[in-house]
Amino acid sequence: MSLEAKIGPSILNADLSQLAVESQKLLDNGADYLHLDVMDGHFVPNLTFGHPIVKCLRNKIKEAFFETHMMVAKPEQWITDMADAGVDQYTFHIEPVDDVIGVCRKIRESGMKVGLAIKPKTPVEVVEKYVEMADLVLIMTVEPGFGGQKFMDDMMPKVKHLRDHYPSLNIEVDGGVALNTIDCCAKAGANWIVSGTGVIKADDQRSVMMQLKSSVTNAIAQYSK
Ligand code: DX5
Ligand code: ZN
Repeated sequence: MSLEAKIGPSILNADLSQLAVESQKLLDNGADYLHLDVMDGHFVPNLTFGHPIVKCLRNKIKEAFFETHMMVAKPEQWITDMADAGVDQYTFHIEPVDDVIGVCRKIRESGMKVGLAIKPKTPVEVVEKYVEMADLVLIMTVEPGFGGQKFMDDMMPKVKHLRDHYPSLNIEVDGGVALNTIDCCAKAGANWIVSGTGVIKADDQRSVMMQLKSSVTNAIAQYSK
């Protein structure tokens, strides 16, 4: 299967009292999936929302692909609830988890895809040993917890390493990704692009998402030659 470019806006910095409206607007403007940032105040020093809100959003938005980015201390705890809420892909941080393979299995048994995420200080080799278990690897390009932070371009060697070794793996980047930083993500080999403030705050969301996508599509065409 050939690699596809996908744009998944993060709604973290949107008006969360209007979650369904904001999400639908992003989808209407060309988002390929929704990246839903779940934080528990333990794994990261911030709180957002959990499965009850995701379930309500799913009731309003039937078709879109939902990825939950689980920035939580116990990802194993929320698998069943998130599957029940209609989540398509459960992307969790491996740092606090003892039995990564067991969690991957449980996610798959619940009918969701598996995403494995690492923070900036976690070496890529730590996630690499689980690649076979995953549908996607998320390389964080900021310390998780807040939107609107500065992009860390020193994470690109991790992306490049994965792309060089796993040509068909879905590789996602998240944090500070916007028009000014997309090209280096794309060239390094990322094909799933999370962008929060870069899309949410844009006057023309459609144009920004199209430009992000074409940068990735062009890069894929180059390195797949
Ligand atoms: C950060 C979250 C990100 C964030 C992205 O912890 O995981 O998804 O919302 O927002 P920007 O693009 O503004 O960094
Ligand atoms: Zn995220």
